[in-house]
Order: sequence, then structure tokens, then C-alpha cells
Amino acid sequence: MHLPDFKVARSSDKKDYVTKTYRLNEKYLNKYKGETCYLRTYGCQMNEHDSENIKGILTLLGFTFTDKMDDANLIILNTCSIRENAHNKAFGLLGRVKHLKENKPNIKVGLCGCMAQEEIVVKTIMEKYPFVNFVIGTHNFYELPEILEKEELSNNQQIEVYSREQDLVERLPVVRASKYKAYVNIIYGCDKFCTYCIVPYTRGRQRSRKKEDIIKEVEDLVKEGYSEVTLLGQNVNAYGKDLYSDYSLAELLIDVAKTDIPRIRFMTSHPWDFNDKMIEVIAKYPNIMPSIHLPVQSGSNRILKLMGRRYTKETYLTLFHKMKEQIPNCTISTDIIVGFPGETDEDFKETLDLVKECKYDNAFTFIYSPRVGTPAAKLKDNVSKEVKEARLQELNCLVNKYFKENNDKLVGKKLKVLVEGISTKKNEYFGYSETNKLINFTGDNIKIGDIVEVLITDSKTWSLDGYVK
Ligand code: 5AD
Ligand code: SF4
Repeated sequence: MHLPDFKVARSSDKKDYVTKTYRLNEKYLNKYKGETCYLRTYGCQMNEHDSENIKGILTLLGFTFTDKMDDANLIILNTCSIRENAHNKAFGLLGRVKHLKENKPNIKVGLCGCMAQEEIVVKTIMEKYPFVNFVIGTHNFYELPEILEKEELSNNQQIEVYSREQDLVERLPVVRASKYKAYVNIIYGCDKFCTYCIVPYTRGRQRSRKKEDIIKEVEDLVKEGYSEVTLLGQNVNAYGKDLYSDYSLAELLIDVAKTDIPRIRFMTSHPWDFNDKMIEVIAKYPNIMPSIHLPVQSGSNRILKLMGRRYTKETYLTLFHKMKEQIPNCTISTDIIVGFPGETDEDFKETLDLVKECKYDNAFTFIYSPRVGTPAAKLKDNVSKEVKEARLQELNCLVNKYFKENNDKLVGKKLKVLVEGISTKKNEYFGYSETNKLINFTGDNIKIGDIVEVLITDSKTWSLDGYVK
């Protein structure tokens, strides 16, 4: 048994990690043939991609997958810790699983992902959820076959969570959700320790994958016919800092662009690590999409300082405008937290002012949620629930206004769209533009996976309509 410990996670500075190649012990191949798994994923793209790897491993074990929890022999929750509602959703599902298990006691239940790394979650599972068969952490989820076996042999709840990062494991089996768009991890963990954020505790210190492993993965995706990769990390702009002295995200983007994959996206960017060369490279290569997610979190310097964000409103705005000027047609999206401890009306007004200046193309807005173990959770949370909710509503009205205004400007324009699917209800196709706008459109002889030119005829707040001639 290994239990998570936030103190260990915080002090960890593993520098001696090595890269290993994944190998499944042959004794596990098809061991569970005929069995069915229900895998539920919460949270960010990183978690979605981990689930693709979990699916890859379970497929080798012989599992097939179902969308109906009631049909499954194995239920896995790949969880998120970022805000309280993510917690509540996972515990809500565990409540349903409990009932299911009362009638079908042989079902196995496992919890993985970020919540597995939290001391209080694991303690609660051990004390109040004895029907959960295993908990496995973010650093070792690929040990799933071994954990399943251990649980079977011992018939005891297995908790296998490491607080320290483990070695990087390459070539994990993968069953991707899409045949056209793929996630590619480039860096794991985060070293920024923003005071509100639990990620450095649940995902560990910053560790970059070797450039040759990333480039090989993208080259293989090109051969398989993929049209788009999203390079993933909690902070992709720190790529390479822990590994190389002269190779950063800018150089990686150039090398990935040279694979000729038609579309490259990357997320998430921390403004602190964004440098001029990165902007130049994004502007220069047509297959690097001009769409940047640049979380600002707050427009008040006082709050940014309390958040530990390491930039000011002024330096953020300088970077923002440089991107807009240098990258043609660039769209920028953001994340904003309202109701951080101590946020005054004046602080919030500064956030609104910043939004008025940036006129974002998309924004994800959140009410601050204290996370146990983070420094901000110790601050006095003196903003009332009503004020937080009113601020969120006001902010949402404002950001929505700009989404619509920006979309209105695109009516009459032609946009290149990667066709992702068809909504049978409306007989319309859908896909995303280079600038990451959702487009619904009609047309003849359209193939999913193609990149087509759509004439935009109408705009909505979160999408655009059009047709292919
Ligand atoms: N409360 C609310 N929002 C949070 N985020 C991260 N931690 C918290 C928290 N404790 C938001 C940030 C981040 C996004 C992924 O989630 O805006 O950019
Ligand atoms: Fe992703 Fe962060 Fe949620 Fe973990 S806590 S799933 S890293 S968003």
C-alpha cells in the first residue's frame, strides 16, 4: 500500500528521472477476454488523454468498453480535483456504483486521476467506501494490470498512490477518441505553484518528454492519417526547461511543424514563460494554429500577487497585444477566477476592465474553490457566496458579448474547417476553424476528417453557421 502525502508532493524535486519504455507482462494479455469496462473521465484534456492510455492498456487485457455502467464488470473513475464540483460529481457517481454493487457484488471499482493523489480523498475512500476495490495515482496508472491482479489475490482494497513523480514511460498503449485529432503530451506536472491550484500536488513537478519521442509520436500520427495534434501540458511554455539548455517550446513547435501535420495546437500556456521567439514561430508556420489559450485569472495586480501568478496586468497586456499584432488573425482565449479571498469590488472591476480591453474570443470563468492543502485555502475566504455568484454572472454577460461581437465579424468570410462529425438531427456537419471556432455547416460530398472551406453565413455566441460551396 502507498498513500499520498501532500508534504512529500510539495517538497519533491525529482531531477533524476529516466525514460522507460512500457511493456505489458505477457501473462496479462487477454486475461479479461469477454469482460466489459465503463470508464468515466472528468476534468481536463490531460485526463482525457490518460483515459485513452488506460483504454489502450485495458484493450490489451481483453476488455471491451460500454457506455452503460450497469453492463460493466469493471468501473473506473478517472477523476479531477480542480474545483469542488469535480469532487462532488465523482463522489455522486460512487453513490450510484454502491447501489449497483449491492446487486452485483463481483463488479470491480477503481478510482484514478487527480483525486487519487489527495490525502483527504483516499482517507474518505478507505473509511467510507470499502466497495472501491482500488485507488491508483496519476504517476503510476499504467500499473493497472498489476493492481487488478493484487486485488484479486488479496481480496483487499488496494491503494497504490505515489506522491513523488515516477520515471517517464513512453509508448503506452493508446485507444484514441478521434481518428483525426490527437493529444500528445509534451510536459507533465507544473512548477508554478499558483496559490489556489492543486495541480502541482496531484501531477508533480515539471518533467518534459524528450523531443525525439514527441516528434516520433507526431510522425507516426501523420502516417496514420491524423490531421491535428494538440501538444499538451499544464504549462507547455515551460517545455524543455528541465531537460535542455537551448531547446524550448519554440524549437519544438518548429520540429513538429516540419512533420507536415496539417494542424498543431498547444495548451495550456502560462504568460510567464511565453517568449518572443514562440510568438515568431507561431506567426511563421501555417500549420501552427493561430489560437492561444492564455489564462489571465484576474485583472487586479493585488489579486495576481496573492495568486502567485508572477506577472502583472501590464505585462500580461503587453504580451497579449504583441500576439495580436504579430500573429495574423490570432484568437486568444482565457481562464478567469472570481471571488478569490480578499477580492474587492475594485479588484473585480479591474478584471472587467481587462476583459473590455482584450475582448476575448473565448473564456472559461470560475468561482474560486478552496482546495485543501494549497496556500490560498488558508486565506480568509471573505467574499460571500452571493457576491461571488453575482460577479460570475456579470463577467459571463460581458465575455459573452465579446464572443458574439467577434463572431459577427466573421460573417461573409471563408474559414478552413476540419470536419469532425455530423449531427444527424440537423443533417449538418461540425468542426473547428483554425482559430478554434465551432462551425456548423452544410454541403455535398463532404468527408469527415477533411479540411474544407466554409462560407460563414450566421453567427451565434458560441458557434458560427455556414456552407461549403
Ligand atoms: N478554484 C477555481 N478555479 C480554479 N482553477 C484552478 N484552480 C482553481 C480553484 N481552486 C481554474 C483556473 C485554471 C483552470 C484550469 O481552472 O482558472 O486556469
Ligand atoms: Fe486536469 Fe487539473 Fe483536473 Fe487534474 S486537477 S484533471 S490536471 S484540470
